[in-house]
Formats: sequence, C-alpha cells, structure tokens
Amino acid sequence: MTDPPQNGHALLDFNSPLSDAKAHDLISGLRLRSGDSVVDYGCGWAELLLRAVGHVPGARGLGVDSDEHAVTRGRANAEARGLASRVALDLADVTTWAAEPADVAISIGASHAWGGTEGTLEAMHARVRPGGVLLLGDAFWERPPGPRSLEIFGEEGFGTLADLVDLALARGYRPLSLTTATADEWDAFESRWCAARELWLLDHPDHPDADEVRRVVDEHRDGWLKGYRGELGFAYLTLARP
Ligand SMILES: C[S@@+](CC[C@H](N)C(=O)[O-])C[C@H]1O[C@@H](n2cnc3c(N)ncnc32)[C@H](O)[C@@H]1O
Repeated sequence: MTDPPQNGHALLDFNSPLSDAKAHDLISGLRLRSGDSVVDYGCGWAELLLRAVGHVPGARGLGVDSDEHAVTRGRANAEARGLASRVALDLADVTTWAAEPADVAISIGASHAWGGTEGTLEAMHARVRPGGVLLLGDAFWERPPGPRSLEIFGEEGFGTLADLVDLALARGYRPLSLTTATADEWDAFESRWCAARELWLLDHPDHPDADEVRRVVDEHRDGWLKGYRGELGFAYLTLARP
C-alpha cells in the first residue's frame, strides 16, 4: 500500500495526545541545562526531543526508533531546524540499543517495547544517571474499561493513574510532576489520525487499497468513539531517578 501507512501520521505533531502548550510545559519541567544529554527511547519522529534540545542551547539529543519512516521524518526536521549537529536519530530496536545513562530519558507511548510499564521503568532506571530525570508517557484507565475497550486494549493490562504512580515509586523513582491528556488533546490526536486517511481516500477514490483504508479508519473511529474515548487516559510523569 502507498500513502496511508507511510503518511498516516502526517497530520500529527506528536504520536501521542499532546498539545503544543503541554509539550512546552513538559520540556520546561525537565530543567535541562547546556551540555545535558536527552535520550528518547521510541522517539517516533522525535518532535518532543527536537523541541527539548531546541529549548536549551548546548543540550544534546539522541533518539531511537524502529520505524524507518518516522526516523527519516525526524532527521529531516532536525536538519531543517539547524539541530542536526546536536541531535542524532538511530533506526534500531530500543531493547538492544545501547547508550550512556542520560541526564534525561524520555519514553512516551513506547512501553509495549519493554513488555509494559514495569519493564519500561526498570529499563529506564539503568538508562538515566542517578540524579537524572525520566519523562514517562503511559496509558491508564481513566474509568473502568467497557467491553469494546477491553477488546482493543485488554491484554495490555493498564491500571489506574494511582497504580501508575505506585509502579514508579516501587521502582525507586520520585514524582516531580504529573499531567494527563485532556479530552481536547485526545480528540485532536484521534481526529488527525483518521483525517490523514480520509484525505487520502478523497484523493484516491479508485485506488485498489481504498476499501481497506476505509475499513481501517472506520474500525479505528468506532473503537475510539464506541470504546475507549473517556475511558483510556494518558499520563505524562516527570520522575526523578535518585
Ligand atoms: C505511540 S508511538 C510514540 C512516539 C513518540 N514517543 C511520540 O510521542 O511521538 C511509539 C513509538 O515506539 C516505537 N517502538 C515500539 N517498539 C519499539 C522497539 N522495540 N524499538 C524501537 N522503537 C519502538 C514505534 O515505532 C513508535 O514510533
């Protein structure tokens, strides 16, 4: 198939429910200084990493993701923003990729790579220097999940927001701040995901893949509107690693 899988994220700034304003707040909360290293595990096209490094002259960024299209997009953005000398993006599996313990590590929406939240917290503990910070973006149940949500996400085993914080505490982190995606951030995220496909369908009504793309986007919208909307939450935890 051509454009939809490749450009299915074209209308998204971040591949998580995140507004510009909240991204700015999260970056400010990292208290980055010149010379600090920021490593983003599962960076996607590294929008948050690029903004973080752009925020602090002298900060250095490393990102890793296994999605070639996303890494290519991130590298082009780093170049276009004059950040290529301070940001490197690697195409690799996070679980086998090695970097020095960072001043700041980021893992947003990538916990499945480590088998879930606990695995991510454990892996990141070794990847953040003592005294450093982890920015974790992870899912939780805002409300008890209904049958459709369980059908879609059941096996992922999310807990409540309090459970998520307890997991971080149990792994030895201390919470510095906590914020969650708003309904507007969720709706923008899901709408844009769908709109990339709807716009492609408008441009390619007779494409041999059109029926399949329509099926995928309809199923996704149904899962969102009749399933996890208002049930699935997404938290951004800024965690000190003592
Ligand atoms: C929901 S996206 C979030 C991307 C980015 N953190 C953001 O917020 O925009 C999850 C990302 O994790 C990446 N990912 C998942 N498993 C991975 C693995 N084992 N190694 C590298 N990247 C992985 C995916 O390719 C995807 O880009």
